Amino acid sequence: NKVVLAYSGGLDTSVIVPWLRENYGCEVVCFTADVGQVCIGAKSILDSYLFPVETSYGLFVMVPSLHVCLIGSSKFAGIKRIRRLGRKGQGKWGLSAGGEGLEGRICERYIFPCLRAGAIYERKYLLGTSMARPVIAKAMVDVAKEVGADAVAHGCTGKGNDQVRFELTFFALNPELNVVAPWREWDIKGREDAIEYAKKHNVPVPVTKKSIYSRDRNLWHLSHEGDILEDPANKPKKDMYMMSVDPEDAPNQPEYVEIGIESGLPVSVNGNKLSPASLLSQLNEIGGRHGIGRIDMVENRLVGMKSRGVYETPGGTILFTAARELESLTLDRETMQVKDSLALKYAELVYAGRWFDPLRESMDAFMGKITEKTTGSVTVKLYKGSASVTSRTSPIVCTGKTSHPLRVEKYMIRLMQLDSFDSMAFQ
Ligand code: ARG
Ligand code: SIN
Repeated sequence: NKVVLAYSGGLDTSVIVPWLRENYGCEVVCFTADVGQVCIGAKSILDSYLFPVETSYGLFVMVPSLHVCLIGSSKFAGIKRIRRLGRKGQGKWGLSAGGEGLEGRICERYIFPCLRAGAIYERKYLLGTSMARPVIAKAMVDVAKEVGADAVAHGCTGKGNDQVRFELTFFALNPELNVVAPWREWDIKGREDAIEYAKKHNVPVPVTKKSIYSRDRNLWHLSHEGDILEDPANKPKKDMYMMSVDPEDAPNQPEYVEIGIESGLPVSVNGNKLSPASLLSQLNEIGGRHGIGRIDMVENRLVGMKSRGVYETPGGTILFTAARELESLTLDRETMQVKDSLALKYAELVYAGRWFDPLRESMDAFMGKITEKTTGSVTVKLYKGSASVTSRTSPIVCTGKTSHPLRVEKYMIRLMQLDSFDSMAFQ
């Protein structure tokens, strides 16, 4: 009867709304998550509204004529679009403010744990999209319960990773929910079909020019795939990037940032204590202007195909550099080796959409314990695309002294040097 749709405000997800109503005869609740993707002035949208549906995610609108209800953040573009729809007489809209966006949550509960774990997929990818999917999917499961929906839907294609991440999360959190994936069912094959379908169903086609790339953004990163990037031999175009300047155009003067870390988690920038989300957005700005954190790679998707992607993770790259460096002071050899080997598995689970798998959760507990003493600060020099460490300090460790596990090794060495040890061993 009712389905919660992961709604972005783009053409595809807009077409899904009438399609669901036509094919499933259900009411559609559009959910737009604020994971820090775009920040558009919020205030102007907060005027007229109708039929609030209370959810713990706070923000929503309801459009009686379309039987659509939108839940999400006012900062997001999708909501602007909904407003336009409203102005065109397709219903009245509004938003209720007051709910927290998911920005803070994704940062604290998803991004920082991956950072602490040192999770990197296939040598390069800092997992930006992979972390965001379970956040959104979990919110959808919560909203579905609150509004009494029996199904959830998403606009991911049948070739990608995102469908797996959404659906594994739905399944982990509520196996009863029905899942609708229109891209695997309908005969809309491309943009032209979608526009035609939209026109036929009176859905205004988004005015924003469709980017030639498939992009995904949140507070941690921005990904680019598709178009000329599909051929791994093609160099990305200079104007594709959005979060970072070309390192060649970055300032000729380096900039130094000091990252404060407590128990493996970043807490301050240049001595200022910041919340996870504001810390990250500040570092995105600083890193972005020095061209930090651009990754160009070919990765193995879950569905068994290779895919070329370009990622921008400016703040994240600075944080990774700093966190890893501090561990050189705080972790002994063996601990570091075990942690690094588990980080690979951790990254793989996150990439594969197994966020709510007890295995990842248990590994997270391990990561928390092992980084308990990773406290200190690291200074990173940013210069034309490179982030290099110039200083690291920790109040609990210093070089020249031995930590507990190393004391064990020292003890063993001493033991081996004893004459009695010799005679015992080779008797
Ligand atoms: N290949 C990356 C990943 O699987 C990025 C996916 C981007 N998703 C998107 N809908 N544009 O995590
Ligand atoms: C999609 O196919 O929906 C986006 C790409 C991906 O999920 O990997």
